[in-house]
Amino acid sequence: MKKNIIKSIKGFKDILPDEIKYYRFFEETIGKISSQFAAEELRLPLIEKSELFHRSIGDGTDIVNKEMYDFTDKGGASICLRPEGTASVVRAAIEHNLIYDRGLKKQKYWYYGPMFRHEKPQKGRYRQFSQFGVEYFGFSDTNSDIELLMMGNLLLKELNIENAKLHINSLGDMEDKKKYEKIIFDHLSMHKDNLDEYQKDTLEKNPLRLLDSKSDNVKEILLNIPMLYETLSVTSKNRFDILMGKLDSLKINYILDNSIVRGLDYYNDTVFEWRHESLGSQNAICAGGRYDNLVNTIGGDDVPAIGFAMGVERIIEILKSEDNFEIEKNTSIGIINISSENEVYPHLISKDLRSEFSDINFYNTDSSASLTSQLKHAIKINDKFAIIITDDNIKNKNLTIKASENQMADMLISLEDLIKYMRNKHE
Ligand code: HAM
Repeated sequence: MKKNIIKSIKGFKDILPDEIKYYRFFEETIGKISSQFAAEELRLPLIEKSELFHRSIGDGTDIVNKEMYDFTDKGGASICLRPEGTASVVRAAIEHNLIYDRGLKKQKYWYYGPMFRHEKPQKGRYRQFSQFGVEYFGFSDTNSDIELLMMGNLLLKELNIENAKLHINSLGDMEDKKKYEKIIFDHLSMHKDNLDEYQKDTLEKNPLRLLDSKSDNVKEILLNIPMLYETLSVTSKNRFDILMGKLDSLKINYILDNSIVRGLDYYNDTVFEWRHESLGSQNAICAGGRYDNLVNTIGGDDVPAIGFAMGVERIIEILKSEDNFEIEKNTSIGIINISSENEVYPHLISKDLRSEFSDINFYNTDSSASLTSQLKHAIKINDKFAIIITDDNIKNKNLTIKASENQMADMLISLEDLIKYMRNKHE
């Protein structure tokens, strides 16, 4: 009889032992960088009142309209699994008077944990996913925008993630936003016949969202609309120019991208996203922006704020695919010796490596066995890295390494360079 096996729910992912080291590395890195930027950690409930997100993210957004895991609990309250962290942090900051903590009106907080959205699952898009987020309260000038962007860049650097591109835009203030919404609405309304039902609905509820539509028909219609930047008020434009000027002076690369409008209603002025092309269509790895009206909307005072959230599963995907190999403490590395019987050079190499790296385990494989079987053994010990010593290596005073960045292809290297390479990968 066929067994009825219970499987996990679509869009909900198990994290298996193979992936844990990437998560640990990520968690260590966010802890380190957050404290370097003097941000404090908050741990908040996974369930909140649904109203919190209706008020903050907005009723016209996909997240609130279609993707919330909301339900009525046994006491009749309308509650939901949190779809994001910003609104919860704002709620907690008001509730516990954190914004005015120790008499200061300027606070920085970070959080890390699961979020839930009933989206269509695909590669890089899950129904339960984790975010690492940072929120700054009380900071209004462009220096806080810069500080956060620098923090995001430093995080990506510490995670060894290269090729992430920072896309930025400015929505201006609420008036600018409304003005631009009207430009899009008017323009697309003239082409309603070319829009499908979903696009027509979005046009009514949240026209800005159509700016980052991936559909060719919408892209084509929007080709001739003015850039948001061109329509900003003098004050908003001036603020954004100062920000871009600082980014230029600091040599922080960015792309001014008119399609960055964000899927949540609470933003104003600076909005941004880091994207990593290797991920395909779900390529946003970290995103955020300024939300100067949200604290007030949720019941607090007028407190400017800015933040971002990083999608952890997408980061882990990159770490796995780039296999940013780190040599951790107690890692074992195989040393394969296939040189002639009377050579002592392999012993000298082993001795030097052991004295140089006292917390790495070097496993000399059985030198009487063939290269193939020694290699098999070494790969079992560590499939990312192995050292080989042949007669040719001895003659040329070098070593052969098989490193994962090289898909285990051979690479010749001097002992000195090997030590440098390993030091780089260690710590
Ligand atoms: P968001 O753009 O909705 O912004 O999400 C931020 C990041 O979370 C995305 O760039 C992506 O990496 C990840 N993410 C979102 N949805 C999913 C999903 N279904 N599966 C996997 N990863 C996902 C926010 O949530 C804002 N609260 C960010 C923010 C913080 N703004 C200001 N402060």
